[in-house]
Amino acid sequence: MHDVSFQRCIQPQCGRTFDIRDILVACPSCGSLLDVDYDWQRVPVPTRLNEFDAAWSDRTNRLAASGVWRFHRLLPFCQPSEVVTLGEGQTLLQRADPVGRYVGTQPGRLHLQYEGLNPSGSFKDNGMAAAFSHAGMVGAQRAACASTGNTSASLAMYCAVSRMMRAVIFIGTGKISYGKLAQALDYGALTVQVAGDFDDAMARVQDVSRELGMYLVNSVNPFRLEGQKTIMYRVLEALRWRIPDWIVVPGGNLGNASAFGKAFLELRALGLVDRLPRIAVINASGANTLYRLFVHDGVRWSGGNIDPKPVQQFYEVMQRGGRKASTIASAIEINRPVNLMKCLRALEVCDGVVREVTDQDILDAKAQVGAGGLGCEPASAASVAGARLLRTEGIIAPDDDVVCILTGHVLKDPNATVAYHSTDQEVFNQVLGARGVTRASFANRAIAVPNETDAIVQAIQLYG
Ligand code: F0G
Repeated sequence: MHDVSFQRCIQPQCGRTFDIRDILVACPSCGSLLDVDYDWQRVPVPTRLNEFDAAWSDRTNRLAASGVWRFHRLLPFCQPSEVVTLGEGQTLLQRADPVGRYVGTQPGRLHLQYEGLNPSGSFKDNGMAAAFSHAGMVGAQRAACASTGNTSASLAMYCAVSRMMRAVIFIGTGKISYGKLAQALDYGALTVQVAGDFDDAMARVQDVSRELGMYLVNSVNPFRLEGQKTIMYRVLEALRWRIPDWIVVPGGNLGNASAFGKAFLELRALGLVDRLPRIAVINASGANTLYRLFVHDGVRWSGGNIDPKPVQQFYEVMQRGGRKASTIASAIEINRPVNLMKCLRALEVCDGVVREVTDQDILDAKAQVGAGGLGCEPASAASVAGARLLRTEGIIAPDDDVVCILTGHVLKDPNATVAYHSTDQEVFNQVLGARGVTRASFANRAIAVPNETDAIVQAIQLYG
């Protein structure tokens, strides 16, 4: 008899279970990913989702004040006393009619979920709070990750604040934006710059963590994804527990899509929702492994019977051709998404679709998001660009309720933003031209003026 919470291999044919205190990132038997699972009969689950509303009246309770831990009853792998929190998850779901117009939805139908409002500026803090709670349970001393920048910023911040562990981060050379690198350095993480890209850093950090016994906080860690389930709980909470028609999310390592699928699978099994939203996962076309496998090769979860051949073939061809991921959305510049299998499961559960969008589409959508509100980094805008594409294709209807997840803050990648709005053709070409971006249709260009009051007044009257 296991504890009320335990770990379980996602492969139904294997399905081995492991203690909640084991430190694992794959099934020791078959190598598949692991889920955190619960014996729901033995834990107190709410009978209705609106029971969570009560948490709002108790803002001095550190669990209730966290957007992750006020849903503790839906991720009860640790005791309340074991919870680590920096007050993550205080995010906003914003009705965004101007962006909705751009996407092609009717007023009131498009919402943006601003995960950039988390303490380290991205959705990663949801998962980091959960991973740190587990790391505390098992007494880990050092934590490691490979990152395109946000996981490392989040890990570095949680280490610096909690003082629980030393942060060791692996990054690809020249692959992370300055906002994110600045965070990791400032928060004191040991920063290991691998001569390679994210996929190389990911492979190395797994080897090195095994060798040195470092606690890995990439999204192969199943506890990370438990925390990321709460993004969906907050979306439903903000919609007063109404289920939207679509959740649209950028796809990189595919942790979010996987976590969202698990969240909905569990809510349905617990009888807390009677229908599920559809999920759309959006790749950048320069890093489109999921798109190629799901749409072109027809790879499906099929109840756990994934045909491995097209996947292996795809990776072999990529390896032989020396094909590297390349997109301005550096956060999702990933060729070998570690959560591929879990994401395929989520796509099955939520009747999902996958699309790819170009860097041009991403930057135009990002400019629309910025002009309409709090802004986001390039990878996040893939969700809005993807929603627009699905609207054009008629797959999303004009009166569908659509929630686009904005995964990271606008300040994470100032270079991409400034280059898009720049009047300097050289800057534009250098940062964006190489990515196939040719236009900045929604640029807000600075006006150059002489150092003279009259001229400045005239210019403002002319343009303002
Ligand atoms: N958006 C942002 C801003 C990200 O930082 C990431 C992933 C994603 C989307 C993709 O999310 O992996 O769940 O599909 N960033 C990771 C990192 C890889 O290292 O920070 P996913």
